[in-house]
Amino acid sequence: MNSMKTVAVIFGSRSAEHDVSIVTALASVIKPLELSGQYQVEAVYIAKDGRWFWDDKLKDISLYQSGEIDDFMRKAPDVHLSFKDGLTLVKSSQFAGRKQYKKVDIVFPATHGTYGEDGSLMGLLEMADVPYVGCGLSASTICMDKVLTKQVAASAGIASTPWIWCTSAEFSANPKTILDRIKPLKYPLFVKPAHLGSSIGISRVENAKELINALEVAAHYDDKIIIEQGVKNLIEVTLPIIGNDTPKVAYLERPMTSSEDFFDFDTKYMQGGEKGKGKSGGAKGAQGYSEIPAKLPKKLQSLAEEVGKQTYSALGCNGIARVDMLIDEKAGKVMLNEVNPLPGGLYAHNWSLAGTSNISLVEQLVQFAEARHQHRQKLATSFSTNYLKQF
Ligand SMILES: Nc1ncnc2c1ncn2[C@@H]1O[C@H](COP(=O)(O)OP(=O)(O)O)[C@@H](O)[C@H]1O
Ligand SMILES: [Mg+2]
Repeated sequence: MNSMKTVAVIFGSRSAEHDVSIVTALASVIKPLELSGQYQVEAVYIAKDGRWFWDDKLKDISLYQSGEIDDFMRKAPDVHLSFKDGLTLVKSSQFAGRKQYKKVDIVFPATHGTYGEDGSLMGLLEMADVPYVGCGLSASTICMDKVLTKQVAASAGIASTPWIWCTSAEFSANPKTILDRIKPLKYPLFVKPAHLGSSIGISRVENAKELINALEVAAHYDDKIIIEQGVKNLIEVTLPIIGNDTPKVAYLERPMTSSEDFFDFDTKYMQGGEKGKGKSGGAKGAQGYSEIPAKLPKKLQSLAEEVGKQTYSALGCNGIARVDMLIDEKAGKVMLNEVNPLPGGLYAHNWSLAGTSNISLVEQLVQFAEARHQHRQKLATSFSTNYLKQF
């Protein structure tokens, strides 16, 4: 009899980062979970069209690389979810009429971007009342909106570079009003769709003419736009964090991509290690070459760690996240840029340098998920009333 807990790893989904999610799930979640010997791991793949699949074959990266996945999906049965006693995976098997069931003890979401990391998957898991790894519904939703992130952080006293936001509808209806509101900000400005990641639709602009063009581009991608003042004397850092009530940090990491390709998807994901080759004291990170730990003056380093942890708590993050900060080195100011609820590859490269192995990382994340679920189950969610009897 097998008493191992079952962890369902859910990945893929309708997102620009679909393929990145496959690699995160297979290499950084499923493999270490299996190597730990503690868990039975089920692979649940959401295709680009939103169909769900559940099969051990989905653990093999070559299935996706070779394109065999298309053939697999044509033949494979759809997966259904049952919410009886938590979450159960259901699929019809090849043998007529017989169904396969698998009760899931913990879910490990390994999705990036839309229809996953943005809170939609977490909503489904809340409804199923199953423990799941990482940030909850509200923290995920806030983190995937650059405006909400800065609003919530600001209310906790966490600084960002000066910024304003507008809806795309407001801009289309009355561009002059929006341009007036942007006026107090100093060029260069960064114009970004509020919800997209991977630098899609982002522009750096130097003057009013470029600004209007950039606003139009952003409005094409999103219904909400953020306009930020460029940070000068910039040092960019990112801080991986895990934990629930007591956040624990890995190393501050400084991505060493040059400024001209700052928002290029290829630079972030395709060229791993090529950029900045030859510099010492770094490592190949999930986004190319990074300096780990970032070489910063001691004071700035501890300030950035503080801002990172404060942000994590203020946004209500749980399990894991990564806080990106922009530092004005001369002014000695650390400003929040954005938060990734599920950093690519879990940022395991950084955690392992900081002394947490890939296996220990996923084990801890599962434990945080269970602790959080237990805690939430103790909260009262129902009470009796006489309301119905009145009728
Ligand atoms: N206000 C800013 N000042 C200076 N550089 C910025 C600013 N905002 C963004 N950048 C640069 O643009 C990059 C992409 O912007 P970011 O907000 O992180 O979008 P994404 O969601 O694509 O990661 C950042 O990593 C940074 O290099
Ligand atoms: Mg970013």
